[in-house]
Amino acid sequence: VRPLRLMYKNPVPAREENIKKAAEIIKMGGVVAFPTETVYGLGANALNPHAVARIYEIKNRPSFDPLIVHVCSIEMVDRVAERVDEISKRLMGRFWPGPLTIVLPKRETVPSITTAGLETVALRMPANETALKLIEYSSTPIAAPSANPFGYVSPTNALQVAEMLGDRVDLILDGGKTTFGVESTIIMVRDERVFLLRPGALPVEEIEEFLKVRVEVLEGERVLSPGMLPKHYAPKAKVFIMGDWNDYYRLKALYGNVALVLPKRKGYYDLNAIYLSEEGELREIAANLFETLYSLDKKGIKFAVFKGVEERGLGRAIMNRLKKASG
Ligand code: TXA
Ligand code: MG
Repeated sequence: VRPLRLMYKNPVPAREENIKKAAEIIKMGGVVAFPTETVYGLGANALNPHAVARIYEIKNRPSFDPLIVHVCSIEMVDRVAERVDEISKRLMGRFWPGPLTIVLPKRETVPSITTAGLETVALRMPANETALKLIEYSSTPIAAPSANPFGYVSPTNALQVAEMLGDRVDLILDGGKTTFGVESTIIMVRDERVFLLRPGALPVEEIEEFLKVRVEVLEGERVLSPGMLPKHYAPKAKVFIMGDWNDYYRLKALYGNVALVLPKRKGYYDLNAIYLSEEGELREIAANLFETLYSLDKKGIKFAVFKGVEERGLGRAIMNRLKKASG
């Protein structure tokens, strides 16, 4: 993990003229950081292999980790996907724009660097005005991973992007704090079966309820969802997940200064604790999670104990990120 930057390009407000400027940069093969409803993305023209190569370079991302391609219309899907099965179509109709990424067979037009050599491409239509306009004005699908150095915490506001990568990107669009705070849910349909490749901002329960099918969890399948490494989303601070309260006291005895992070404020009276939400609402916890992980490093905190949440609904994505942050 590289230290946070002291010298960086200031983010510019996501106003019309700046989005247009950003689109010009994308068209010329540049790299722009932009807000989505999940986390900030580091975007380049998905169809330009040189532009995409710069994303890997800026992030220090291994070449086996494929990118998500962002679209603003169904017409754009057809430009990059070889075919779209019926179930995927229905999912797009119901959940797009929104935090759902769908893996589809790719067309030749998509360079292999974008998909890390896979024959499939991961697509999503973000529910964020700035992102949608940027894609539209660029007239090209935009490949964008989260805008952080590889393996580090994903950014949920523009200042974090600036501090992490601000000396290396061409422009940062500031669209404020992201709504969800965790990445999109990734699924893939094969022979009418639906597989979950990454839990995310859209709870799988909602997909199951809509399709009336069980979503199968595909874990440990590197080939199908590479880049899902056991340690990811990790700050420099060492992160622990509390089994019970004794764990906290034991770690405190061992390391002395240990930050305590609790999912809700209500019912707790620890003045030194960091709280992820007021009432334990999962949406609020998710929205604050990465920012809290990030703040540990900014405050120079070395050890932190998190009390987890139940792995249901959005809780599944929250715990997935926490477990990866703790390695
Ligand atoms: O919410 C999000 O999805 C954010 C915003 C910026 O859109 N993006 C994001 O990208 O989380 P990234 O690079 O952090 O995650 C990309 C992951 C890869 O690590 C891999 O697991 C999966 O998406 N992926 C991409 N292409 C794939 C493919 N063809 N087949 C299977 N999994 C793929
Ligand atoms: Mg990422």
